[in-house]
Amino acid sequence: MATRTVTITDNVSGKQVECPVHEGQYGAPVIDLKNLYKELGMFTFDIGYASTAACRSAITYLDGEEGVLLHRGYPIEQLAEKSNFLEVSYLLVHGELPTTRQFDEWSHAIKMHGMTHEHLSRFYQGYRYDAHPMSVLAGVCAAVASYYHSQTDIYNPEDRMMTARRVIAKMPNLVSKIYRHQSGLPFVYPDNAREYVENFMYMMFSWPSEPYVPNPVALRAMNLLLILHADHEQNASTSTVRLAGSAETNPFACVAAGVSTLWGKAHGGANEAVIDMLKEIKDPKNIQKFVDRAKDKNDHARLMGFGHRVYKNYDPRAKIIRAACHDLLDEMHVDQPMFEIAMELERIALNDDYFISRKLYPNVDFYSGLIYQALNIPTSMFTPMFALARSSGWIAQWMEMLSDGDFRIGRPRQLYVGAQKRDYVPVAARK
Ligand code: ACO
Repeated sequence: MATRTVTITDNVSGKQVECPVHEGQYGAPVIDLKNLYKELGMFTFDIGYASTAACRSAITYLDGEEGVLLHRGYPIEQLAEKSNFLEVSYLLVHGELPTTRQFDEWSHAIKMHGMTHEHLSRFYQGYRYDAHPMSVLAGVCAAVASYYHSQTDIYNPEDRMMTARRVIAKMPNLVSKIYRHQSGLPFVYPDNAREYVENFMYMMFSWPSEPYVPNPVALRAMNLLLILHADHEQNASTSTVRLAGSAETNPFACVAAGVSTLWGKAHGGANEAVIDMLKEIKDPKNIQKFVDRAKDKNDHARLMGFGHRVYKNYDPRAKIIRAACHDLLDEMHVDQPMFEIAMELERIALNDDYFISRKLYPNVDFYSGLIYQALNIPTSMFTPMFALARSSGWIAQWMEMLSDGDFRIGRPRQLYVGAQKRDYVPVAARK
């Protein structure tokens, strides 16, 4: 029972509604508006959900003012330094870090679900070699739904856990096949002697005629990127997964919906857009001109990889990845002139009043593309990499939603501003 309330008064009718205020563990309290329409006959209007908490969640907390990101209470800095992606995915799904035995069981279960139905491989052949990988990924994720549709009871917790394992296990397989198809290389089956990230790299990069020897620096970099992208509270793609899931849709179809949303360049597509932007700038002497375009309201250019709906301080993931970028490029002996341009661009923007006054800081994707590039991952595959990581968060959030006692279909309302009721006009009488 909430002890704090907020009273909303309609100044015209004088009617009032007293709304309970709920306090979370951290973060802004929320006003419970479920009686608003019943009592006042009004909806709330909040474009882009800027002030709306759409659900209750115990998975991820982020404080945009302070630049804090916690998964199940653990700071992202500690997870990035000490954990690995498979352990973080366990944490998101189960709520606790695994013991050694639990991790071994998880790792074994994920390996056991890493294959996909052989017929699914033919699905890829329907795409042109240069189809955008996110289009392919959305398609194949939706296709996987067909293999498990009749056997999945989303209201059964065991089925939900099985689904989480399948999603996390199959994403590396699904993503790697896109790259192989694009490159004219044969598909590679998972090798269960390898751990999760190594297996993914093996399915992506192994050459049919050569033994595959992983580069430990590349494995470390890939683990880091996957951890940093694993979950991020109620972002656009996660909210899409929840909304689709609230209609009791097949979970793989929900993941396909998440992939489609993530594709957008205001969201996951930003890592690809950053590289396109750096290529367009090409030379440090062109940076100022680009920054001026990004500030010009009549120009569509934006500084990609800058700004965030929630972070009004440095994105903590960007801090981690920025430091890693230096080390990794050095260790991998990669000379990336683009990295120099990125550093200079960041320096100029962080000293520019336009960006300072709007609290626009680099986000994780300002740097992630540079690391993916150093790992020889083609630019168009950056967002599928993000999807691979984020699918662990999506499925954890989907599970949480379905086990919430308050679960109901998501159905926003609207402010109708269209035509008044009018009569149909026969075509001959139309002007
Ligand atoms: N470059 C230039 N100006 C910007 C940028 C940018 N990258 N981002 C925001 N602004 C400006 C806006 O024009 C606006 O200016 P105004 O107040 O004068 O009108 C102000 O800053 C506020 O911007 P909004 O669009 O209201 O911010 P919103 O929260 O809606 O958008 C978003 C956030 C979509 C991330 C935006 O900053 C953006 O497009 N950034 C570039 C794309 C990007 O990097 N996306 C990745 C996000 S992180 C992720 O998904 C992993």
